Amino acid sequence: KETKLWGGRFEDTVTDAVEKFTESISFDKSLYKHDIMGSRAHASMLAHQGLMSDADRDIILKGLDEIEKQIESGEFAWRTDREDVHMNIEAALTDMVGEPAKKLHTARSRNDQVCTDFRLWCRDAIDAIVLRIKQLQVALVKLALKNEGLIVPGYTHLQRAQPVLLQHLLLAYVEQLERDASRLLDCRVRMNFCPLGACALAGTGLPIDRFMTSEALGFTAPMRNSIDAVSDRDFVLEFLSANSITAVHLSRLGEEWVLWASEEFGFLTPSDSVSTGSSIMPQKKNPDPMELVRGKSARVIGDLVSLLVLCKGLPQAYNRDLQEDKEPVFDSVKAIVGMLEVSAEFAQNITFNRERIRNSLPAGHLDATTLADYLVKKGIPFRTSHDIVGKSVALCVTRNCQLQDLSLDDLKSISPTFEKDVNEYLGVENAIKNFSSYGSTGSECVSSQMDYWVTKFQLN
Ligand code: ARG
Repeated sequence: KETKLWGGRFEDTVTDAVEKFTESISFDKSLYKHDIMGSRAHASMLAHQGLMSDADRDIILKGLDEIEKQIESGEFAWRTDREDVHMNIEAALTDMVGEPAKKLHTARSRNDQVCTDFRLWCRDAIDAIVLRIKQLQVALVKLALKNEGLIVPGYTHLQRAQPVLLQHLLLAYVEQLERDASRLLDCRVRMNFCPLGACALAGTGLPIDRFMTSEALGFTAPMRNSIDAVSDRDFVLEFLSANSITAVHLSRLGEEWVLWASEEFGFLTPSDSVSTGSSIMPQKKNPDPMELVRGKSARVIGDLVSLLVLCKGLPQAYNRDLQEDKEPVFDSVKAIVGMLEVSAEFAQNITFNRERIRNSLPAGHLDATTLADYLVKKGIPFRTSHDIVGKSVALCVTRNCQLQDLSLDDLKSISPTFEKDVNEYLGVENAIKNFSSYGSTGSECVSSQMDYWVTKFQLN
């Protein structure tokens, strides 16, 4: 067996079970690119500070290039006995270039190395997620553009409430996604500080320049406190919190579209390209992608909870428990990227069934609140008008009809305030026309919301 990089004080080697249990190479090899980036910056800084010769630095940089190539071509042999990505790369470099490589770990510990790599990895992941959020927003805005003027029932408590424009409803998701992206970018700002040079926990007496490595790696600044730098994982807790909120938004979209695709609603039809069938029931066409978007939100939330529980009992500074921080993050990122991509594809492949939606609109007294507002405009206090319209609805219920079907005499028998112009307030089209407040579902308000997004995403 090869002597470990840390093997100096040891007389015996670890058991196979311990080696297998403590390794992280099986998953942290995903950090290789960022680990190599960190090593390049570190070697350049060491040479600049006179802690290694320029010649040694060049040998190291060349060796790292070669290792990166080997990894990317699949030739690199990852070794479990070399434990993790950091020691695999350092040991391979030593095998390749000999003595100079032994200087690379000067004034560096795996403790600061791993969280530097991880911050760099998460930074890239955030950029990838934010891009996909935008792509989904664009798909939703385009879907809205295709369905201008379409009125749908708005629900509260999943009971019919008031009519809304479908564009308005779709843009609600676009707004939620916008905040999701801004939460991620906000988290990225706090994440973008460099732990490198914190070493094991206490820093070093060697004349390193942490500002130099921080800048080379695109961080805002080195972290101020070396203990904090290697201890905390709040940057991933925050990242996975943001992912969880995004996942919840996507799950709600999934739930809504799954409901709307049902026979009972029948409001939308996904194309075959985003549907799957049943192995037993020949007639089935299921909206599985959106069900899985809803389902995968569970693991994104679970990943956050794993990390929170992982961190809650840890004293400062680095503890090996922290090796368990990576898989939940990788899992969360993979899930959220897939959820965003598939939701965008689904949005590009659904048709709203205008006929079916229109035919369903008379049910549910969607115009009742507009009618109450009509009475308010005639000077009736809202509580009284609420009561009058409530009684009008009750009459409709006994007659199994809609407010529109009541005659003016019927209405006058409930309140003399009703006049002929009440007809301009009844029915969903009139109800939509009546909305005028900022942010409301009124046609003009929605079209200015549409303009905002169309301009922002340059869709015109
Ligand atoms: N593989 C470790 C991790 O992911 C790297 C740091 C290990 N440090 C140590 N002193 N054992 O956390």
